[in-house]
Amino acid sequence: MESKNSKRAEGAFQSKGGGGADPLGEVLRRALQRPRIFRDRNVMRSDYVPDRLPHRDEHIRRLGEILAPALSLSKPSNVFIYGKTGTGKTAVVRYVFKRFREVVERENLPLVFAYINCRISGTEYRVLAELCESIGVKVPFTGLSKAEVFSRLRRGLREKGVLLVACFDEIDALVKSYGDNLLYELSRINEGAEECGLAMIGTSNDLHFKDYLDPRVLSSLSEEELVFHPYTATELIDILTERARLAFREGAVPQAVINLCAALAAAEHGDARRAIDLLRVAAEVAERNGDSIVEERHVRLAQSMIERGRVFEALSTLPLHSKLVLAALLLLAKNGVPNPISGMIYQTYREVCGRIGVEPLTDRRVSSLISELDMLGVVKSDLVNMGRRGRTRKISLLTPVEEVEEVMESDELLASLLSHTPASIDKWRK
Ligand SMILES: Nc1ncnc2c1ncn2[C@@H]1O[C@H](COP(=O)(O)OP(=O)(O)O)[C@@H](O)[C@H]1O
Ligand SMILES: [Mg+2]
Repeated sequence: MESKNSKRAEGAFQSKGGGGADPLGEVLRRALQRPRIFRDRNVMRSDYVPDRLPHRDEHIRRLGEILAPALSLSKPSNVFIYGKTGTGKTAVVRYVFKRFREVVERENLPLVFAYINCRISGTEYRVLAELCESIGVKVPFTGLSKAEVFSRLRRGLREKGVLLVACFDEIDALVKSYGDNLLYELSRINEGAEECGLAMIGTSNDLHFKDYLDPRVLSSLSEEELVFHPYTATELIDILTERARLAFREGAVPQAVINLCAALAAAEHGDARRAIDLLRVAAEVAERNGDSIVEERHVRLAQSMIERGRVFEALSTLPLHSKLVLAALLLLAKNGVPNPISGMIYQTYREVCGRIGVEPLTDRRVSSLISELDMLGVVKSDLVNMGRRGRTRKISLLTPVEEVEEVMESDELLASLLSHTPASIDKWRK
């Protein structure tokens, strides 16, 4: 049936043929043939929540047990989830939330499950606003103080008498920029309230994240803990096989290709996202080539393509303020100051914050963001002697300016900063 269709399509476009007279013909013909490899492209998207999560039954059951008291409207324990990227933390939480929401709807319970990605939300204000919105409390996009949004949240919880179970996914992104004060306040929001309140689930890809938390906050957030281990190659094979069955036409992706993707991803750190991306890109490569079966050579090609995209990905997933620090460094470099000292970076950082209406962090926090960028290998920082004025740090970008620029351009908010010239640049350039 399908092949008949595409034959017909082929014929139709070919009739225009004749030595490149129709530049679109080939493209259109291929586009019509595309379903040869993919059956359902969405299944390979990163935000797709599968109905089955092989090798995570134990985690799903455990999280379910911890959250179960919510169904009888008593506040469940807070949970802290950690594990490296691609180990299924987000997928498990979203899956469990989805199943709980089905019960909530059926039983009509005053219970809300909110999922917030802190890295994407970016600021404490946004996170609080999203919490408010999840229980139907309206908050303007900006303009209120954080304290005001916080008290609207508390009031909302009490007046509506709801129990809110909130997942703060990638909570480390928020804490590294703002400290753990918000978490502390949130952990105390239940005081004096009986039937309503807030239970928190925090996740982190950074295994050392606990070091950033005040002991009081840590003990409150990690009443329960779940650890997600990296997947083994065999586990990745099961995950990929399941996904491939839904995403691809029968026979389009041989087992050997799945095994190769799993092995390559397992050789790094057992990251399911990596494995799925590899298979998806390999399939796209094959498709663009007009091949109907994905082969090992497509996987190899996909791997080198992904490798190249990695810097971009690493930078574009940084927390907002780290990106703003990078933007400052970029503007300095573009304007003839490739090795600025910390003070210049901070001043420029404040300028860019001002331009996009984001409240700047303190000097100290920006220093720790710089140290983190240093650890990630994005910048290099050297202590230099300034004679009588003591010592300071000189920072330079290790990532090529064009690559940083590309990341900024892809971000609507940050793109507007690229034309800015730091105010004191003439003084610094000497
Ligand atoms: N056990 C699993 N079964 C099926 N898909 C999985 C499983 N674990 C992870 N995935 C998929 O791998 C990708 C990365 O998982 P994710 O939950 O985002 O990882 P994390 O949040 O730990 O970084 C997602 O596309 C997710 O659907
Ligand atoms: Mg995640």
